[in-house]
Amino acid sequence: LHNMDRGWLGTPIDELNRMPQCAPPLSHLKVVPNHTVTVRTDLLREGEVPVPYPTKFKDAWDDVSVKMPCSEKNLFPMETEDGGGVQSRWELIHTALQGGFKSSLDVRDAILRYNTAHAKKWDFTALNLLCTECLELCEAQHLFEVVLPAMVSLALSAPRLCTLPIPLLKSRMNHSLTMSQEQIACLLANAFFCTFPRRNSRKSEYCNYPEINFYRLFEGSSSRKIEKLKTLLCYFRRVSQIRPKGLVTFTRQMVNNPPNWESSQTQLTRLHITCEGTIEDDGYGMLQVDFANRFVGGGVTGHGLVQEEIRFLINPELIVSRLFTEAMEYNECLIITGTEQYSKYSGYAESYKWKESHTDETPRDDWQRRCTEIVAIDALKFRHFLEQFLPEKMVRELNKAYCGFFRSNTNSKHLSAVATGNWGCGAFGGDTRLKALIQLMAAAEAGRDMAYFTFGDAQLMRDVHEIHTFLTGRKVTVGRLYSLLNQYSSTVCKNCRTTRPDESLYSFIYQKVSSQTATDALKSAKDSG
Ligand code: AR6
Repeated sequence: LHNMDRGWLGTPIDELNRMPQCAPPLSHLKVVPNHTVTVRTDLLREGEVPVPYPTKFKDAWDDVSVKMPCSEKNLFPMETEDGGGVQSRWELIHTALQGGFKSSLDVRDAILRYNTAHAKKWDFTALNLLCTECLELCEAQHLFEVVLPAMVSLALSAPRLCTLPIPLLKSRMNHSLTMSQEQIACLLANAFFCTFPRRNSRKSEYCNYPEINFYRLFEGSSSRKIEKLKTLLCYFRRVSQIRPKGLVTFTRQMVNNPPNWESSQTQLTRLHITCEGTIEDDGYGMLQVDFANRFVGGGVTGHGLVQEEIRFLINPELIVSRLFTEAMEYNECLIITGTEQYSKYSGYAESYKWKESHTDETPRDDWQRRCTEIVAIDALKFRHFLEQFLPEKMVRELNKAYCGFFRSNTNSKHLSAVATGNWGCGAFGGDTRLKALIQLMAAAEAGRDMAYFTFGDAQLMRDVHEIHTFLTGRKVTVGRLYSLLNQYSSTVCKNCRTTRPDESLYSFIYQKVSSQTATDALKSAKDSG
């Protein structure tokens, strides 16, 4: 094939590191001060459902833990003749959900019984449409007779399954949380039935956390919501048919001392770039980038349906991170290891469709986690093209990407490649060519190769490959590249009177590096002559 017709360029993808092959031996899973584990580590066995730890529900109703629906502090105001008292909200949830469902209206009524304050506002049109117009009669029947009752019993088993208080992963914390997939399923069933207290209004104490209760998924009549519901119900059907047997780890990571970009002598690492395939399908075993919102999962429980939301739908265990992950700061990321893909999809955004159930055959590591590592990093949102070339914005993006890619105490040869693409360049309006360089610089500093998926853009593939080849061929360091970005910003962007500069970033770089090389050649000819 001519280069022009190739679907990929650069290093063949099979030469890049993937998990589990590249992984160093994993230390024993154990509880340490910065790692909470909610299962019995001593009883962890391949092929067996992990045992929750501790045995008895430990109630915590404080500002460092998730407030659980089954807490005895979860109270519900009761209106009585003499003014009113309080009632256990968990008991009310029990009664409401155990009544059985014959239609989506019964589901609505049940949810509203313990969410009375929202009865007028919450709308269940999408759930209703799904059940009455989209599902076959036998599918709807199966939903009401099998799936929903199984979800109810999963949700109601919270005091038996989720016994250890779940720590809130707050800003500036470096902390890991490992839970079983079964515990996650239980928490997500609770999210579906909107049982999490204090989580129905963004004005409450959880205002700096993403939404977790699913009420917004039920609202409106767009096909987006229907397809989202189909995807999530596929997950609930699967986990209620066969109890999942693995673990998932959520790590909040903050990087306090980012590289000194200006003085970096690091060379760029290897690049595989392709206009075909996706991060999730073709980047298996790599560090897969989630093009995130600072509230992880973005609009997954609402209207959003682009890269991050789709990933959270097909790997729904990601959604539980919204329960405990405070909004990310500029120097933070969330790393999620071990989630499973339960659905296949087609389309994107408006054309997104749930396709079918997916069997994930990704191998598990010694902690019984699927070897799927996803990192949520939130790019900046730009309204004007030129904004992103401001030096402080470029540093912010470099540091954010570096925070996602960097792993302490790990030799480069044990690090998987980064699987990424047009991070920050869709909903967030960034420039793909700048962002590709920024991500390459961050990956180089973190000691990782990169597989870049351009999502169908063949021209972008050729351009990024060409500049990567040029830069590596001339041994241009990350530091040099950084100063070139700043020069482009101060000479081309600063004086620009239009919305976009006349000279492109890449042509500026070619010209500067080539003329520097020419000067160098002249100098050395003079010196030796
Ligand atoms: N694999 C590779 N590339 C992809 C894939 C995929 N599966 N899906 C999309 N792309 P976007 P952002 C490409 O807009 O700009 C969410 O609401 C495709 O070219 O999702 O960082 C978050 O919650 C697409 O245009 O990311 C945030 O709020 C580009 O990646 C916000 O969007 C960017 O995808 C983040 O927006």
